[in-house]
Amino acid sequence: MKLAVLREAADGERRVAVTPEIVRKYIALGASVAVEAGAGLSATIADADFEAAGATLGAREQVLRDADAILGVQGPDPVSLEGAKPGALVVASLDPFRQRERVDAYAAAGLEALAMEFMPRITRAQSMDILSSQSNLAGYKAVLDAASEYGRAFPMMMTAAGTISAARVFIMGVGVAGLEAIATARRLGAMVSATDVRAATKEQIESLGAKAIFVDKVAGIEGEGAGGYATEMSDEYKAAQADLVSSHIAKQDIVITTALIPGRPAPRLISDAQLATMRPGSVVVDLAVEQGGNVEGAVAGEIVERHGVKIVGHRNVPSRLAADTSALFARNLYNFLSAFWDKEAGRVVLPDDDEIVKGVRLTQGGKVVSDRLLG
Ligand code: NAI
Repeated sequence: MKLAVLREAADGERRVAVTPEIVRKYIALGASVAVEAGAGLSATIADADFEAAGATLGAREQVLRDADAILGVQGPDPVSLEGAKPGALVVASLDPFRQRERVDAYAAAGLEALAMEFMPRITRAQSMDILSSQSNLAGYKAVLDAASEYGRAFPMMMTAAGTISAARVFIMGVGVAGLEAIATARRLGAMVSATDVRAATKEQIESLGAKAIFVDKVAGIEGEGAGGYATEMSDEYKAAQADLVSSHIAKQDIVITTALIPGRPAPRLISDAQLATMRPGSVVVDLAVEQGGNVEGAVAGEIVERHGVKIVGHRNVPSRLAADTSALFARNLYNFLSAFWDKEAGRVVLPDDDEIVKGVRLTQGGKVVSDRLLG
């Protein structure tokens, strides 16, 4: 089975879908790996390192020729896959809801597209979960981005010249990114509080030494609901949440928002009027900016200032730590493909009735087959 690893074409994408460590593992399984020249450079992996691990390097046409699976971080432009073998797997983060035309084009080309962000959240699939591995580092980086834009220190410092008080950091949305953000802000010495709509997060917040700030007038989401994901909240809940945020946010120096609802625009959590109550010099980082934004006025790819508050809207935060996020992404893909490796056939075989396969498969036999896209 030949695996093709593409050089990422999207603007600002620095990650790569395989590392030398993982090339060795694929070869040990019995696969061959062809890497597009220069694919690893922005993640600090030289072509020679891939070659030393046993991969062949080449131009895109050579790499794609006869490939049985095409691996990427972001979904490749279908036009750039011309010449790929019908039936080849396309394994990447395919952004299926927003890139529906692309999915249709993969189907028309006879490619079998597998969207890694549709990985079901079950124990067996934890090591294959790109959303978790990438969000984790994004949560960490969001705190560092906030710290570098903030004109003050995070920890309380007692110096001969006097005392500096600790920064107050508020994390909104306590999924994978939010939990890591809490832990990172605590390590830097900030006073941390956090909120979410899922009641189960309260204990997690407290176990990390942060203060849980929760809406108590209206019930949030109890239990694990839709696979641990949040859903759109009622108008009554939103009003109660807005009240709570208004009273809390004016006392914060840093706010990091991470709230997402799968398949829908990100919920609006902070209004312009609420921003205006924050102290000048405060910093808000909106990790959901590319999904519509949690913060009014946030602009994807920019740092803007409103009422003296900086709103940080970096795109593709995982790509800002490309060496580490690539290593984890590459392992996620390997854990997925190797779990379905058929020794006798010497290739990946994806059973139609497997829960993981049903979750990630978008196209097959020239058609879109994903329930989440069709339903
Ligand atoms: P996410 O990225 O979809 O959303 C981030 C957070 O925002 C979530 O905690 C969500 O509840 C929260 N949120 C949504 N709307 C909100 C609102 N209006 N106000 C405040 N907060 C809001 O979530 P993520 O990081 O993907 O994690 C979701 C859950 O899945 C977590 O419980 C996590 O532990 C679980 N999980 C399970 C895995 C497994 O079992 N394999 C793997 C990874 C995560």
